[in-house]
Amino acid sequence: MIDLAASILSADFAHLADQVEQATAGGASVIHVDVMDGHFVPNLTIGPPVVKSLRKATRLPLDCHLMIENPDQYIENFAEAGADWISVHQEVCPHLNRTLHLIKSHDCLAGVVINPATPVETLSEVLDIVDYVLVMSVNPGFGGQKFISGAVHKIRKLAEIRSQRGYAYRIEVDGGVDLGTVGEVVRAGAEILVAGNAVFGKGDAKQNASALLEAARSASLQRV
Ligand code: DX5
Ligand code: ZN
Repeated sequence: MIDLAASILSADFAHLADQVEQATAGGASVIHVDVMDGHFVPNLTIGPPVVKSLRKATRLPLDCHLMIENPDQYIENFAEAGADWISVHQEVCPHLNRTLHLIKSHDCLAGVVINPATPVETLSEVLDIVDYVLVMSVNPGFGGQKFISGAVHKIRKLAEIRSQRGYAYRIEVDGGVDLGTVGEVVRAGAEILVAGNAVFGKGDAKQNASALLEAARSASLQRV
């Protein structure tokens, strides 16, 4: 099953509810919320109050991608604000097992994220407990960047490990996903596709979402 996770990072923040509604009308099934702290990544975005407002504006799962240091400190706040899925970066979690269990203790799905320079092998001891793995296909911090193709073999590897070991995690990809790149990530095994610029960057968000989803679905039929 393919999910399109519309990333509000590229949306018009003054009209978030409308933008979410348009993406939803085009088939987006998840709303991706990028949380940045100006330390782990060189940008600042939004926090729990915006998640709380979004919670009232949509029934879709809110996928909170925490690009922050010390995520343990804020997990409860995001869960209380209405997050359904919470992901943390491997690079900032010295006690990753504990952090993932903390997310689960708040009844959220727990995800782990790896940057382009972080190998899949660093996740080996948590793959049995995560609900999803998010493979970054850009260096996090900004929307609208160019897709880094090294993500493709990582997605493939995660799909292989899952079938070899009988795990259940889903595979998400984030960064530079558009009509030109969606085919290869889906064929490699990605199931949750984050897209910001390709949905909200220009033109009509509904049409953009629907075109991307159609391309993703047809690529999923070509998986070997
Ligand atoms: C980047 C964020 C992404 C971003 C993707 O740090 O994690 O979710 O919104 O944007 P696009 O789809 O524009 O590359
Ligand atoms: Zn993201």
